Amino acid sequence: MFFTFILVFISFIAYKVYPKFRVPEGIKNVPTLSFLKLVSAIFSNGGPDKRWEITRKVLEKEGIGKLWFNGVWHIITTDLELTKDVFSKTDLYPKTSLDESIPGSLTANYYGTNVVFSNGDVWKRHRYGITSHRKSISAVIYFPLFLSHITSPAFKSLPMHVFDETAVKLLKVIEKVDNGPLEVQDLMHRLTLDVLGRVAFGFDFNNLEDPTNVYVTTYQEVTAECDKPIYFIIPFIEYLPYFDRTEARKKVAKINELYDGLIETKRKSMETEELSKKINNNTADLLECMIHASSDPKYPMSDEEMRYNLAMFMLAGHDTTATALTTILYVLATHKDVQSKARDEILRVLGDSLIPTIDQQRELKYLNMVIKENLRLYPPVHQLPRRENSETIKFRNHVFLPKTPILINIYGIHHSPNNWKDPEEFNPERFENDNDEKREQYTWLPFGSGTRTCLGNNFSLIEQRVMLCALLRKYEVSSPTDSIHQDKLHLDHSSSTLTGLQSLHLIFKRTE
Ligand code: HEM
Repeated sequence: MFFTFILVFISFIAYKVYPKFRVPEGIKNVPTLSFLKLVSAIFSNGGPDKRWEITRKVLEKEGIGKLWFNGVWHIITTDLELTKDVFSKTDLYPKTSLDESIPGSLTANYYGTNVVFSNGDVWKRHRYGITSHRKSISAVIYFPLFLSHITSPAFKSLPMHVFDETAVKLLKVIEKVDNGPLEVQDLMHRLTLDVLGRVAFGFDFNNLEDPTNVYVTTYQEVTAECDKPIYFIIPFIEYLPYFDRTEARKKVAKINELYDGLIETKRKSMETEELSKKINNNTADLLECMIHASSDPKYPMSDEEMRYNLAMFMLAGHDTTATALTTILYVLATHKDVQSKARDEILRVLGDSLIPTIDQQRELKYLNMVIKENLRLYPPVHQLPRRENSETIKFRNHVFLPKTPILINIYGIHHSPNNWKDPEEFNPERFENDNDEKREQYTWLPFGSGTRTCLGNNFSLIEQRVMLCALLRKYEVSSPTDSIHQDKLHLDHSSSTLTGLQSLHLIFKRTE
């Protein structure tokens, strides 16, 4: 009897578990990537470079590999054709919502449904809206309104003064350290958060001057919780009593309260007429546009959705640019010839000014090449959020059944010798006379592509140019001789999409 029971029990487990490992027929011939090696890379804090090292042999040759992860076979790709397909057919390759990939998880609860993790009509409501409502300033176009505020071609209504004032604050912080090593990653996060807060939310985090600001410390605690590798590798443990993250959930509740307070204060501070005026003349910030949207009966924006978007913007709008600025300062510190060429150009174009105008930013050709090359070498988003095909896809001799998770490996595309000569070399000259049409499409993707392309790309590029102009004019940047990054920049595991790096100290020596 006991023996029969054991047999039935084992058969039941096998019946339940086997399908989780079974490779679907259509992807049997896709080369397998090692789950164990990837897990050990993540646990040993390995960054996207380490993951690329593990997968490159397969991906360089085949462009796709299959990886068993969390009970499902995923397709990881650097293939340009498949990448193009994913970017251009968003209905066929919708993004997986956070609640679908990790239902009820801390991360899903914190970010909810927002502009980055939504599809179809919901996404349109968040990002595009319906153009015919543009005149009546409908709720649904709050993102384009925000976008035009910061990225209109002429950048006429861009609040450049925010960038300028923050650059001056940054110089003051650096002045205090005076020639000693300074941890750059943290500094760049504080800087980009201050810019984002003022431009997008009309709120000054003042993090450059006050690193212990409650918004920031709570935000850091929450993102650190969301990014814990154990929950990324074995998400289901979150459902077990011991791992249910009660403390972490309290932190999320606390930051949600802070976001709600921010929204409420803004709402109270604005008369309806004042808000409409700002919306009409395109000077409303992101939060004001969302508040306006919340009262539109046709396309309502709930308070919860507003909060989710705030949470997402906190991440998408500052972590990425902070990483870009950190890595670019590193490459400038370790390539002194590039640094002095960039400085010479800045002095020539800007004359006595500290901050470049928009026209001058266009003239900074070499600096723009350096920025592009840095984004290639160290893409702040190393892998795109997961997509799942809505229909069966035939790719070469493979068949992807509906709902196959597909991950585009940007780091791999940027580092593949199939796409770039000497890909590991930092060489801004490769972007000389660069013309996106001439270059093989989809080989440079720091901001993604297609309709889901980054909404803040120009915002970020302007921020980078302004800060670099101010810094390079005043300081020479170098790397301490005992730096752990002396030979190579050590990246680490930040999350499944964002590139992280180990703490980085650089020396800023005054030039004038
Ligand atoms: C160097 C800085 C940045 C990098 C590398 C970056 C990268 C990206 C990438 C790769 C995507 C596409 C995601 C996908 O296709 O799944 C994206 C989307 C997005 N980014 Fe950025 N980003 C940066 C800065 C910013 C900033 C400053 C903001 C806001 C002010 C922002 C807001 C967004 C939003 C809202 C989306 C979602 C767009 C949509 O799906 O409609 N990003 N970003």
